[in-house]
Amino acid sequence: MKAGIDLISFYSSNYFLDLKTLAEARGVDFNKFYIGIGQEKMALPPPDEDIVTMAASAAQPIIEKVGRENIELVVLATESCIDQSKAASLFVHGLLGLPKRCRAIELKEACYGATAGLQLAAAWVEKNPEAKALILASDIARYDLGSPGEPTQGCGAVAMLVSTKPRIMTLDPECGYHAEDVMDFWRPTYRGEALVDGKYSTRVYLSTIIEAWNQYRERSGRTLSDLARCCFHLPFTKIAEKAYERLAKACGLPSPTDADFELRLRESLRYNRITGNSYTASLYEGLNSLLDHSTADLSSQRIGLFSYGSGCMAEFFSGVVQPGYRQHLFTEKHLALLNNRTELTFQQYEDIFNYGVPEDGGNHSMAPYRTGPYRLAGIKDHKRLYEKSR
Ligand code: HMG
Repeated sequence: MKAGIDLISFYSSNYFLDLKTLAEARGVDFNKFYIGIGQEKMALPPPDEDIVTMAASAAQPIIEKVGRENIELVVLATESCIDQSKAASLFVHGLLGLPKRCRAIELKEACYGATAGLQLAAAWVEKNPEAKALILASDIARYDLGSPGEPTQGCGAVAMLVSTKPRIMTLDPECGYHAEDVMDFWRPTYRGEALVDGKYSTRVYLSTIIEAWNQYRERSGRTLSDLARCCFHLPFTKIAEKAYERLAKACGLPSPTDADFELRLRESLRYNRITGNSYTASLYEGLNSLLDHSTADLSSQRIGLFSYGSGCMAEFFSGVVQPGYRQHLFTEKHLALLNNRTELTFQQYEDIFNYGVPEDGGNHSMAPYRTGPYRLAGIKDHKRLYEKSR
């Protein structure tokens, strides 16, 4: 019996800013963004969407497909929390009408949180083979306006149903991990925007991948050529090429060519390139992009996955795509969402960015924007009020 991802669904906002618009406003050559960091667009949540509504919207197609039965664990991983005490998973639990006989918690370790959730859930369903777990990764990446991190903002959520009869991917038991106390990226509780030592964070990402890989390799006996494709945590898509190059070097392989990048990586980068960083959802957004776009049938193929969370936690692990997986994807929904988004002007971007959630404890209702199936209706007495938008 092998646990793994039974279903996977992705959601992002209906609004985006083209990085050409940002480049023009900031007086930068847009190729720095399009080519230099490999990002074209960034998704921005309107004021009536947050990590709760995005997570619920990502999970809704899964619930519609398989129902709520036997979901006994809900983990919401995020670093964009909306409450210092109450778990965001409980709001989602309510919105989705999940069974009361359930554990619902929130997890945090920067962009690594969802991987911790996935691994915990896989071990848990192996002990409880009839039960299912819902792992939600939901984040909004925000940096100061005009800072080097600004073009790497974005948002998104991924929902994964974890079971012992996974239709999408089984998880291999071998993994390699690495923990280290570093200050490469952080967000003190009094700030809405992350602080980051950008170049240092990239160096730490690229050195910890080797630590995690070496342990994965020792434990599994596999090398890079045993992995049909690789998915990486994607703060910006260009980092995947750098990471893959490092892995090839660590395995004593020649430097990857453009054709290698095309084959091993490109399909996993397509969503992130047009949504931006979705922090803890980003690795799984990349996996979803690979599954949705792969022209080759990936059945029985092994996929390598690298999860990185600043601070820092790194993990390399792998999984095997299940025969027939294509029938269980939500590809059309994902493409419809991303192809029908509304483009923002620079002024609209700054207005949305600067919109502050009311903090006075009054009775505020939120103007309706284009959202997914759930929205933040208002805030009253410091309580967030959610509703179904359609
Ligand atoms: P920067 O200083 O704006 O950019 O920072 P740069 O000067 O380093 O340029 C970027 C690349 O564009 C360079 O290529 C340039 O040569 C190229 P590279 O040398 O790296 O290969 N370039 C051009 N290419 C084509 N045409 C041009 C042109 N101009 C320049 N005209 C940085 C970039 C990523 C550091 C910044 O955006 C940043 O601070 N981002 C936020 C932090 C981040 O994403 N860190 C990544 C690792 S940490 C992580 O992944 C965790 C995270 O997701 C958070 C979490 O765990 O919670 C962030």
